[in-house]
Amino acid sequence: MYKIFNNTKDDHEVETDLLDLTAKFDAKKILILTGQNSFSESEAENFLITELKDKYTKANFYSDFENNPKIEDLTQAIQKLRSKDIELIIACGGGSVIDFAKLLKVYLYDAGSILDFPSKYKNPSKSQISMIAIPTTAGTGSEATHFSVLYDNKKKYSIASDHMLPDYSILNSSICLNASLKIKSSCVIDAFSQAIESFWSVGANLESIKFAEKAIHLINKHIDNFHINHKDENVMSDILLGAHYSGKAINISKTTAPHALSYSITSFFGIPHGHAVGMTLGEFFIINEQLASMNAVNCRDLSSHMLQMKSLRELLGWGDCISCNDKWKSIMKNLGLNMQIKLNGGQEGVINRLADSVNTERLSNNPISLTRENIIKLYLNIIS
Ligand SMILES: [Fe+2]
Repeated sequence: MYKIFNNTKDDHEVETDLLDLTAKFDAKKILILTGQNSFSESEAENFLITELKDKYTKANFYSDFENNPKIEDLTQAIQKLRSKDIELIIACGGGSVIDFAKLLKVYLYDAGSILDFPSKYKNPSKSQISMIAIPTTAGTGSEATHFSVLYDNKKKYSIASDHMLPDYSILNSSICLNASLKIKSSCVIDAFSQAIESFWSVGANLESIKFAEKAIHLINKHIDNFHINHKDENVMSDILLGAHYSGKAINISKTTAPHALSYSITSFFGIPHGHAVGMTLGEFFIINEQLASMNAVNCRDLSSHMLQMKSLRELLGWGDCISCNDKWKSIMKNLGLNMQIKLNGGQEGVINRLADSVNTERLSNNPISLTRENIIKLYLNIIS
């Protein structure tokens, strides 16, 4: 699959190629942003060389930042790149590469607004740079969202601005095939979780539900055999498109409790993002239905919420809420994603620290309010 989407228009696919698209921006100076190893290990480098021709050799390149970029990575990149008069960024990589490109898109020529981050920080309000995002993993859907992540002293900050949305996304399944099954599994679970969470989220609307449905359909049809068929390009095409739609869905609705609980699992235990989200997601089929009559329903009245959960279960075709949780666990198992973290003591202290660091903004987007007791129970399920 090779598809190009204009992100600024609703689900708008365009008939062009990367070279023509680049010409359309008439950019004198292009920055190609990539990951450090993933770029040459995947087919991505060959793809860009073939497509961009002499524009590739004349471009500026940058990959000097870490997987979960820190404020220091951003200020260093700004210092090194701001004299280069960049007009177009082509970001080719996983979620962190595309997220970092979005930050440069808004801060490269407005560095002052990031100097006092996070104390006097405001979300960016302009951008002078265009951007094309080319994901090399099928997972985050970051190429279709207006959010990014920045770490300061190990604390994770979400940055949101309409100006960070990449202008175009290029989905090329052949450059996503080479990653390991471990990486692909975590990515596909991230995409699937985002679509499911978007469907039940407080922020959902008709448009986000339409994108979430497309994502769920595309991913669900391959998920049972993904561990066997992950090198099949037709399968990867559907997963990549599904991940893109999951990005479009959360770009409107945002994510919910499984994402809120996942960030501390990743920072405490180094578990990859999608894997960490998947560790608790299954339980939310039960929580979001069974706690609905006891805890506050955040989004709509109880009966509309229950109908929404029923529609989701029908879309997935996995039976009642208990069966959905069982099915989710079997998907995680098939993909080799462990659901348990084993500690050598100190479990209570660790769980309290995890509960203290839950992302409250994402938590408030869950359709059912969770108490601290509910959260501790969820962590106890996965930590022993
Ligand atoms: Fe995610």
